[in-house]
Amino acid sequence: MEFLNFTRPDIDEETIADVANVLRSGWITSGPKVKALEAALSEYCGGRPVRVLNSATGGMELALRLAGIGPGDEVITTPMSWVATANVTITVGATPVFVDAERSTRNIDLDKLEAAITPRTKAIIPVDLAGLAVDRDRLYDIANRHKLRVIEDAAQSIGTSWKGRRVGSTGDFVSFSFHANKNMTTAEGGCLVMNNEEEARLFEKLRLQGVTRFPGGEMDMDVLGYKFNLTDMAAAIGLGQIKRLEAFNARRGLLAKLYFQQIDRSLGLELPLEDHENTNWHMFQPLLPIEKLRGGRKGFIEAMHERGIGVGVHYPAMHLFSYYRERGFKPGDFPVAEYIGARTVTLPLFPAMRDDDVTRVCDTMHDVIQSLAL
Ligand SMILES: Cc1ncc(COP(=O)(O)O)c(C=O)c1O
Repeated sequence: MEFLNFTRPDIDEETIADVANVLRSGWITSGPKVKALEAALSEYCGGRPVRVLNSATGGMELALRLAGIGPGDEVITTPMSWVATANVTITVGATPVFVDAERSTRNIDLDKLEAAITPRTKAIIPVDLAGLAVDRDRLYDIANRHKLRVIEDAAQSIGTSWKGRRVGSTGDFVSFSFHANKNMTTAEGGCLVMNNEEEARLFEKLRLQGVTRFPGGEMDMDVLGYKFNLTDMAAAIGLGQIKRLEAFNARRGLLAKLYFQQIDRSLGLELPLEDHENTNWHMFQPLLPIEKLRGGRKGFIEAMHERGIGVGVHYPAMHLFSYYRERGFKPGDFPVAEYIGARTVTLPLFPAMRDDDVTRVCDTMHDVIQSLAL
């Protein structure tokens, strides 16, 4: 039987033809397709200024630069995320401060957030893990009371709404990723939603070497910028994807419901929060009963692979990576994130999956857990 990956991008023939048109056009780097994608994303985000670039990591780094965050400043985030979320704080010379995750949502624990705020705290980077929205009402209540900037790491949550308000249409900075595994893709890429045209102008400058061009070939560079621009081929993929995003996310929602219906509850898995309103079902991640499985998570993943099912890990608790341990973090610092990070597995979930693929995953998972049971 065909190997079932945990995810797969869905690029239609019309989009492939449009990428070919870009390649033939003679203008392949940032150009009209980038502008068109920015306009489509801005419309999607309620008319707010949006600019694209070649990764969400770069988008969050630029958001920190726009907020004037640097050496001496602290930025609060969660260890239950991809390393990019905290790395960008270090890249701009500031210090990441972790707040543990909360067990049911697996997002930053808002009950513990205020205790981590110090006079040096300048910003919070919350993460909508697996696409499930962080409680925006509570988050912005805390941020506003302490006059903190917010850089929403919405890498995984395009199309998610919080209480009916689409992520990206409200709030401070919002960063989306268009990496190949995300709910919409440009192969690699991302965008930042900003508050006003002044921020967007500075973003454009920082995105491309800090240079401003004037009529008649004049130019100046007055700030140190990066090389973060997106190509028109990538933007053409994004234009094909954004048209289908709502349909993609609706299909993901149906597949998630099938998982909830079909997973055998007696296997001892801890399922994700069953909230179908505030998520885009970017991933479906049960926590494994690792203490009861021969070979633990590794044994489970290998056995699933042998039976033709791809399973991922997103993610181990970040503070336990060597780089962060060298900066003083250690096991026991964030017990909930460590619990989740040690047990989480990502099951296949992507729009082109068939209903009976879910059944196949559930049946295989059942057999594997029974065969590994200690
Ligand atoms: C939560 C989170 N933050 C940030 C990123 C970084 O996105 P990009 O790969 O586009 O830089 C990712 C990508 O996997 C992510 O999942």
